[in-house]
Amino acid sequence: MTTKELLLNAVAQPAQDAGDRITVVGVGAVGMACAFSILSQGYSSDVVLIDVMKDKLKGELMDLQHGSLFMRNPRINASTDYTATAGSKICIVTAGARQLDGETRLDLVQRNTDIMKHIIPPLVKHSPNTILLIVSNPCDILCYVAWKLSGLPQNRIIGSGTNLDTSRFRFLIASKLGIAPTSVHAWIIGEHGDSSVPVWSGINVAGVRLRDLNPDLGTEHDKENWKELHEKVVSSAYEVIKCKGYTNWAIGLSVSALVHTLLNNVNRVHAVSTCVKGLHGIEDDVFLSLPAVLGENGIISIVSQKLTDTEEAALQKAAKVMSEEQQKLKL
Ligand code: NAI
Ligand code: 2OP
Repeated sequence: MTTKELLLNAVAQPAQDAGDRITVVGVGAVGMACAFSILSQGYSSDVVLIDVMKDKLKGELMDLQHGSLFMRNPRINASTDYTATAGSKICIVTAGARQLDGETRLDLVQRNTDIMKHIIPPLVKHSPNTILLIVSNPCDILCYVAWKLSGLPQNRIIGSGTNLDTSRFRFLIASKLGIAPTSVHAWIIGEHGDSSVPVWSGINVAGVRLRDLNPDLGTEHDKENWKELHEKVVSSAYEVIKCKGYTNWAIGLSVSALVHTLLNNVNRVHAVSTCVKGLHGIEDDVFLSLPAVLGENGIISIVSQKLTDTEEAALQKAAKVMSEEQQKLKL
């Protein structure tokens, strides 16, 4: 008898998994920030890492496993083989090229579309009921690519979208007002990136609309220049990339919040990328962020925001850009 057999009197076969498996594809700066954020907050007890770089994968796996004592006893696995991902509730895709200093997210589109062709089909083969959470950039167009490559229903394709931009926006508004970011209700919708749309008309604190206090809020005429906060949201990713080479902590936290909402079926509203055809006058199959109710079946519903004509026009313009880019894609 082994020491283990002498110590433990077997009573039943252990279950093979805990039913909350999350796969993270890509163990770069973003993938690891997502994995660390999910594991350290105990949002999943079963995380699988996938990448093509064997040594990097092994190093990241061992480093995380060595912290198990300080987490909630998770099961962590890593592989280049997608069979390890079988039965994942959510597959988070962070693999692919990132922007070099000065590059836009849209500059990455064909490079990362080609990478998706190697990732999406095996993920769906092993987890046919999964939710695909697309983080790689440009994340809105890559949602369209993932939808086409996976054959999954649209409610199961979610882009991390402007959940991150919204967090940046609320942080900046909160700093200007001297209150906590969670007490600021403000949304950025549309493209994750350069043409994102701040919904100035709806910003409120405790139900008090800032536009009722300052009708010029977010416009050219505003003496307090609130619109620079949105300009800072757009430029901040470029600034972080210029300073440290990449962004990762905020997106890792943003993705882990989405994972918590989805796995726990809490119906929380997040700004995420989803197919917006038929909404706000958009007629194409494009993915852009709108506030959506998320649950264990993915996108449960989309909030009908009352947008101003300017906000709606900006959203339609972003949709046109997405549609034009999609037509150029070699899928
Ligand atoms: P990185 O270069 O650190 O990591 C990318 C990883 O992808 C590498 O480990 C690489 O080996 C892996 N990879 C490449 N091809 C693969 C394949 N076929 N299968 C599996 N793995 C593969 O890049 P980083 O900084 O982690 O960024 C990843 C992506 O996330 C970029 O596209 C970046 O623009 C995007 N991003 C998106 C954000 C968002 O808010 N949506 C925020 C920050 C970054
Ligand atoms: C970000 O906004 C680069 O999309 C990335 O941090």
